Amino acid sequence: MITFDCRKQLFHLATPHSSYLIGLHSGKYVTHLYWGRRLTDIPSGSLYTPGNLAFSPNPDPRNPSYSLDTMPQEYPFAFRTDYRIPAYEVETAEGCFAGELQYERHEILTGKPPLPGLPATYVENHEEAQTLLLHCRDQISGLCIVLSYTVFNSLDAIARSVRFVNDSGRQVVLRRALSASVDLPAAKYEMITLPGAWGRERHVQRTELFQGTCSIESRRGASSHQQNPFLALVTPETGEEHGDAFGFSLVYSGNFLAGAETDQLGSVRIFLGVNPNTFSWGLVSGDSFQTPEAVLVYSAHGLGGMSRIYHRLYRTRLCRGRYRDTPRPVLINNWEATYFQFTQDKLISIANQAKKLGMELMVLDDGWFGHRDDDTSSLGDWVPYRKKLPEGLDGLARQVTAVGLHFGLWMEPEMVSADSNLFRTHPDWVIQIPEKCRSEGRNQLILDLSRDEVCNYIINTVSNVLDQAPISYIKWDMNRHMTEYYSTSLPPQRQKELGHRYMLGLYRILETLTARYPEVLFEGCSGGGGRFDPGMLFYMPQIWTSDNTDAADRIRIQYGTSLVYPVSSMTAHVSAVPNHQTGRVTPLSMRGDVASLGVLGYELDPNTLGDIEQDEIKRQIEQHLKLRRIILSADLYRLASPFEGDEAAFQFLSEDKSVCLIAYFRLRGTISAFPRKLRLHALDHASTYRCLETGQVYGGSELMFSGFPVQGSQASNGFSDFYSHIFTLKPET
Ligand code: DGJ
Repeated sequence: MITFDCRKQLFHLATPHSSYLIGLHSGKYVTHLYWGRRLTDIPSGSLYTPGNLAFSPNPDPRNPSYSLDTMPQEYPFAFRTDYRIPAYEVETAEGCFAGELQYERHEILTGKPPLPGLPATYVENHEEAQTLLLHCRDQISGLCIVLSYTVFNSLDAIARSVRFVNDSGRQVVLRRALSASVDLPAAKYEMITLPGAWGRERHVQRTELFQGTCSIESRRGASSHQQNPFLALVTPETGEEHGDAFGFSLVYSGNFLAGAETDQLGSVRIFLGVNPNTFSWGLVSGDSFQTPEAVLVYSAHGLGGMSRIYHRLYRTRLCRGRYRDTPRPVLINNWEATYFQFTQDKLISIANQAKKLGMELMVLDDGWFGHRDDDTSSLGDWVPYRKKLPEGLDGLARQVTAVGLHFGLWMEPEMVSADSNLFRTHPDWVIQIPEKCRSEGRNQLILDLSRDEVCNYIINTVSNVLDQAPISYIKWDMNRHMTEYYSTSLPPQRQKELGHRYMLGLYRILETLTARYPEVLFEGCSGGGGRFDPGMLFYMPQIWTSDNTDAADRIRIQYGTSLVYPVSSMTAHVSAVPNHQTGRVTPLSMRGDVASLGVLGYELDPNTLGDIEQDEIKRQIEQHLKLRRIILSADLYRLASPFEGDEAAFQFLSEDKSVCLIAYFRLRGTISAFPRKLRLHALDHASTYRCLETGQVYGGSELMFSGFPVQGSQASNGFSDFYSHIFTLKPET
């Protein structure tokens, strides 16, 4: 609910358990007054007291009682007495960079307007949310700047974005246009981010803030494996289920900047948006610019509370389409089974065996087009490679369908190989500095999606592939990062627009294709989880979490990813051992248990499996089919972190609390260990629960306060490495 108290000049953005307060200082400066637990009564004017401070100048020389340097702001501007990091910068025709944002008027709308051309959270009916639009004006450039805040009625989340409208009659350049900024009062804070690398995505990193700036960014043209567009601010006491957690997540898949600046007084400014280091945007008179959306979440129940809000919001009001609420098919992917070396017969033999084991979809990965036998050619030439597929895609797809599986396909439409007909025909369609340099990554070039004709070509080509065979799934890959940042179609002064224009082009392509093919399940991928972000989830409800399928590594990656993203968005495959990425050997049972905590798939040659392994896989799939609806929509409680010890544990509690699953993983055993108990959450104190695997009955309070004994009588497993088990608890009374 959003209210405005005219006398106090105060906006109250209230969610079920949180309050976010915005004030108007002197009727013009938009100040940030509070964010945290829900307030019931709001004292007049005591939330912020302006103060004078040496070396903090005063914007109004006639009133030296305040400086913007010490004022907590909602959307700070540059060089008007505030030395902290600004949220936006506009360069005027005269070369000024300073800004001054002043409030003009506001509107409170029911519902949530969509963001044109950009992914964003949405509502299904207007009653689900309210939106506050603060219409402001920059006094120096003359731009109209509209700050938008959507408050969801049933979730402690606020979606923010900003629209710049150039109605000034003059030409300006936006040098920085972040999506959100929040000034929190002085306290001890720590910042949590999800850094990584290829094969080691989204590991949890927790750092104490210091006076100065802690920030993360991507300059790679994608959200990247190396950083994720998310940060959480917590206090040193905050744990999984207690303490304050403030989450900041950007609904964007390109270059971003996020960070926290601790100022001279210990107050902290958090900022998040498109990376200004690789951005600028020209606005001629009449133009406007829309920033991506930032989703802010507050929980007084620690990181777990924060994650559960993101999970619910992103699962139900960011993901879209037919598969949002539908269980996703268990798939077999041929990549690690064959890499580029396959024949139609080989694929059919994989499909036959996969069907016998209970799988539902067969995905043909890289190598089916042009004359692609390795990664040096053919990207861009999306026509079947007849040497491998003599009957074309249609012939193969029909045979796979006849086996009883759906058919899915890998594509990498944003890329082109130098050795391709597409590049030979359109050498100017790639990102490069002509006649100077153009880097290659994995022997490939990036198509310039800032060009409409290139985007149209991709839409037509992918449509053509989808129209020629019964294809029910597309894995959309992207295997290199952007370099050079130069487009032959943009004028010199607009070259820094390329990174964002690329994203707008990609989003247009994905919007068109997903609307045109609503029955097709699209899965995101970028060399594993290099573009695992909320922007992609708007178009694709699931993303390949990492190329690293080693169960011991994967549990860390999936744990870190779960800080923001629902398990329904993480695809996870069982692969062969020794693992192709790490060489590690883990039991099939653990590989299955790790993979079944996401959207389950297999990535191996099922013909190479012995009887025992085949039976185990059949069992895994049967179990997953029974549990997937629960796992993919349950409330998740993280019980033990693989970043703090040699084990990981999760509790999945179904929405109606009728099923509680405990997934336990021990990566390295400890000899002579005390029997392990896990304290569970949110059960009914008065109920008793039966563990279906052991038959044991426990009290609800016993499970929450004394704990669930994960090893039970399995002493033989008490100290073995790579032990895992999924237990099912059901209330009896
Ligand atoms: C990278 C993906 O992450 C892999 O799963 C596989 O599809 C390869 N690309 C194929 O080139």
